[in-house]
Amino acid sequence: MNKREYKCDVLVIGSGGAGCKCGIVASHNGADVIIVSKGLTFKSGCTMLAEGGYNAVFGYVDEEDSLQLHIQDTLKGGAFLNDLDLVYKLVNESPKQLIELESYGSLFDRQDDGRLNQRPFGGQSYRRTCFKGDQTGHEMMIGLRQEVIRENITTHEEVMITKLLFNKEHTKIVGAMGISLKDSAIIIYNSKTTVMASGGSGWLYPVTSNALQKTGDGTVMAYNAGVDIMDMEMVQFHPTGMLYPKSRRGVLITEAVRGEGGYLINKNNERFMINYDPRQELATRDIVARSIYTEIQEGRGTEHGGVYLSVTHLPDEQVQTKLHTMVQQFKDIGIDITKEPMEVAPTAHHMMGGIKINKNCETNIENFYAAGEATSGVHGANRLGGNALADTQVFGNAAGIQASHQVKKIELEEIDSTEVNSEIERIENVWSKGAYKPEELKQAIQEVMWKYVAIVRNETGLKQALNELNDIEEKSKDMDVPEFNEYNEPLKVALEVINMIQLAKLIIKSALLRKESRGAHYRSDYPELNDEEYLKSFVLNKNEDVKTIKRGLF
Ligand code: FUM
Repeated sequence: MNKREYKCDVLVIGSGGAGCKCGIVASHNGADVIIVSKGLTFKSGCTMLAEGGYNAVFGYVDEEDSLQLHIQDTLKGGAFLNDLDLVYKLVNESPKQLIELESYGSLFDRQDDGRLNQRPFGGQSYRRTCFKGDQTGHEMMIGLRQEVIRENITTHEEVMITKLLFNKEHTKIVGAMGISLKDSAIIIYNSKTTVMASGGSGWLYPVTSNALQKTGDGTVMAYNAGVDIMDMEMVQFHPTGMLYPKSRRGVLITEAVRGEGGYLINKNNERFMINYDPRQELATRDIVARSIYTEIQEGRGTEHGGVYLSVTHLPDEQVQTKLHTMVQQFKDIGIDITKEPMEVAPTAHHMMGGIKINKNCETNIENFYAAGEATSGVHGANRLGGNALADTQVFGNAAGIQASHQVKKIELEEIDSTEVNSEIERIENVWSKGAYKPEELKQAIQEVMWKYVAIVRNETGLKQALNELNDIEEKSKDMDVPEFNEYNEPLKVALEVINMIQLAKLIIKSALLRKESRGAHYRSDYPELNDEEYLKSFVLNKNEDVKTIKRGLF
C-alpha cells in the first residue's frame, strides 16, 4: 500500500463547525494546523445542514431573557444529566462566539432596528435562537470556510481516519492514521496535539437528518484508544424529518417551522400536542418525538406513517422569508407548504453521548482533545434545539485554544510504528473477496437499531439487538471489498460497518444499564424517571469497569 506522511502541530479530525472553529483558533495562535475530513472539506459535517438557529442570550427580542434562564432551560431540557461546567461555558460564551462568526463573514438575520433577530425554539423560556432564515448552519460554514482559507490552513479531504496513534511509551496520543478514499493510500499524521471533531453517528439508523459521513468513527476510535466515553444511551430523535420520497426520508424539517408558529396535527385533524405537554409544539424534542411516535403507534398517523406539520395558517410572507428552505424542499416534491401541510416523522438527529471532556476540551489522554457532537456532557439526556451550533463554536474555540497552547510546551514525539503496522494489517484484512456486501451489513445494523434501540426501548429488545449485532459481526469478518476503486466506497463502508457494530453495542450497553426513562432514553419497561438511582452518567472505558458520575444541582 502507498503511504503518505505528514507532520503538524495540531491535527483536527473533522471539518464541520467545531473542527473549522478549532483549526481557525489554533492557527490564530500560531499553530501549524491540518484539518482532515472523511468527506469533502466543509461539506461533510452536520453544521452545513443545520437550519433553525444558534442559541445565544442577547435579550434583543425578549429583554427578560438571561444567562441564568439559558442555563436553567438547558439543564431542564437535558433532564439534569448535563455537566454543569460545560453548560456554564456554553451559555456564557455563546454570544461572543456568534459575534466572532459575524467577523468571519457569517451574517445573522436582523430586526428593523438592526439588532439581531431571535426566534422561539423548544424548551426555551424566551426567544433566544438567532438565525439566518432556515439555513443558519450553511451561513455559519460560509464564514468559517472563508476564515480557514484566509488563514491558509491545510485541509485534506476524503481521508477516513481509522486509528489514533500513541508515542513509544504509549502514554500520549501523537497523531492518527487512516486511508485515502481517493487512491487507497495509507495516510499517517504525526502531530503534537490531536482534536477529535468528527461529529455524531446518525447513520446508525436508517432514517436520519445527518450528513452521510456520520457513522460515529471518532467515538469508536477514541474508545479503542482508551479514551473515556459517556452517556452513550442518549440518542436524540428530531421530531420532524421528511417522510417521502424514500431518497429524502429523514431530511430535516427544522424546528423553526414550529418556532414560527407551525402546528402538529394527526390524521383526525387534531392538534394533539396539547394532550402531552402544555408547551405543545415547543416542548423539548424528546417529548415531541415521543408524542408523534405515540400518535402513529395508536393509529392516528398519516398515509405515509407520520403526522402533519402545518404552516397554512401563517402569513405567506412569513413562510416564504423565514422558512425558505422548507418551501423549496417541499416544492421539489410537488407540495406548496403555504397551502398544504407537510408530512413528517422523527429522524435520528444528534448524539448527546460521546467523548468525555472537561471545559477545556481535554480528555483523559494527554494531548488529545475533542469538541462538538463527538463529545458528551453539555446537553445531558436531551439537547435543546439551537444549542448544537453554539456548542460547535464555544467548544471548537476552547479546543483550539487548549491544543495550540499545549503545542508551545511540548516537542513532537515519534509514533509507535508497531501501531501503524498493525492498523495497516487490519485494513488489509478487511480488503477481501468475501461473502457479504458491506452496504447490506450497514443496512442490517440500521434496521436492528431502528427496531430495538430507537425512541422506545426495553430490555428484551435491547438484548435481541445485541444477538442480532453479534450475527452481523460474524458476517463482517467475511466482507466483499473489491480491489482498488477510483473512490473506494466499499472499503469505506466496510470500515464503517466495523465501527458501527462496536458503537451500537456501546449504546446498548449503556441503555441496558439505565433502568429508567430520562430525556431521549425511554424504557417502556421502566417508564419513570428515577433520580434516586439514576441521576448519574455512565462512563465507559475499554480498560476499566463502568464508572458513574453523579449529576444534578448540588
Ligand atoms: O430543527 C433544527 O433546525 C435543528 C436545529 C438543531 O438541531 O439545533
